[in-house]
Amino acid sequence: MKQTALAFIGAGNMARSLIGGLIADGWDPAAIHVSDPDPEQLGALTGRLGIHGHSDNRSAARAAEVLVLCVKPQQLHEVGRELAEVVQERRPLVISIAAGVRLGDLQRWLGGDCPLVRCMPNTPALVQSGATALFANEAVSSAQRDIAENIMRAVGLALWVEEEAQLDAVTALSGSGPAYIFLVIEALEEAGRELGLEEGSARLLALQTAFGAARMALESSEDAAVLRQRVTSPGGTTEKALEVLENGGLRTLIRDAMVAARDRARELADQLGAA
Ligand SMILES: NC(=O)c1ccc[n+]([C@@H]2O[C@H](COP(=O)([O-])OP(=O)(O)OC[C@H]3O[C@@H](n4cnc5c(N)ncnc54)[C@H](OP(=O)(O)O)[C@@H]3O)[C@@H](O)[C@H]2O)c1
Repeated sequence: MKQTALAFIGAGNMARSLIGGLIADGWDPAAIHVSDPDPEQLGALTGRLGIHGHSDNRSAARAAEVLVLCVKPQQLHEVGRELAEVVQERRPLVISIAAGVRLGDLQRWLGGDCPLVRCMPNTPALVQSGATALFANEAVSSAQRDIAENIMRAVGLALWVEEEAQLDAVTALSGSGPAYIFLVIEALEEAGRELGLEEGSARLLALQTAFGAARMALESSEDAAVLRQRVTSPGGTTEKALEVLENGGLRTLIRDAMVAARDRARELADQLGAA
């Protein structure tokens, strides 16, 4: 599998992370192609990693069995139309990481039926700690599913959803989620300073606490609720703090925020698909 020829269309942040992760995982750089209209962007990537660069998307696509579309969602319509002929002729697996573009729209731009996987990654993918959900259409074989999963695993966790509509919920949870966690970290820092801590100390303690709690929960077989109860001694400080958070409606607030994000994801997909 690590010799399978891949073509990344768009040599931006995500392509850079994915290609870096794949090579670190042992993928053969000689099997990796990338295209971008910006020669500087392209040179920065190909020179460093020893992969093939193309200024023309179609020439990259012709060289590969798997295409990974790494352009901005607004650019995908044009790129899809440009690649339609090559895709219909060669029928590669096409993987889109563009947020909010539905498979039906991409398939239309690519000129009709073909094996397609839509992914919803998140920004921690840029530091190889992403969370990606994937959805495949019926034309994708099980070997192609394995390849798609392997590619996204190069930048973190990868899991499948059964229905494409679930990707809107994924967008609301892990897609927008890093920003929710950053907000919590900001609030912890601010409150820590108000309670008398030095700025640098408040920042480091907030960051390490978020990291440590996530790591502990990931490494544990227990639910987050059980871990929370374990650190909440009756009559203690944590119990007092949690009482304030629960009475202030934190759970409802998070639910409402996610519903708003999910609804906006649907609206944006409608707008992108109108192209
Ligand atoms: N970054 C994230 O954390 C993240 C998270 C979730 C999903 N995504 C998705 O990942 C995709 C890529 O995001 P990114 O952050 O990597 O964006 P990016 O850094 O802007 O990369 C896109 C690249 O595509 C190039 N490009 C523009 N038009 C092109 C064309 N016609 N053909 C080929 N390449 C073209 C761009 O060049 P120019 O700069 O010259 O336009 C740029 O180098 C997006 O669809 C986004 O929704 C990203």
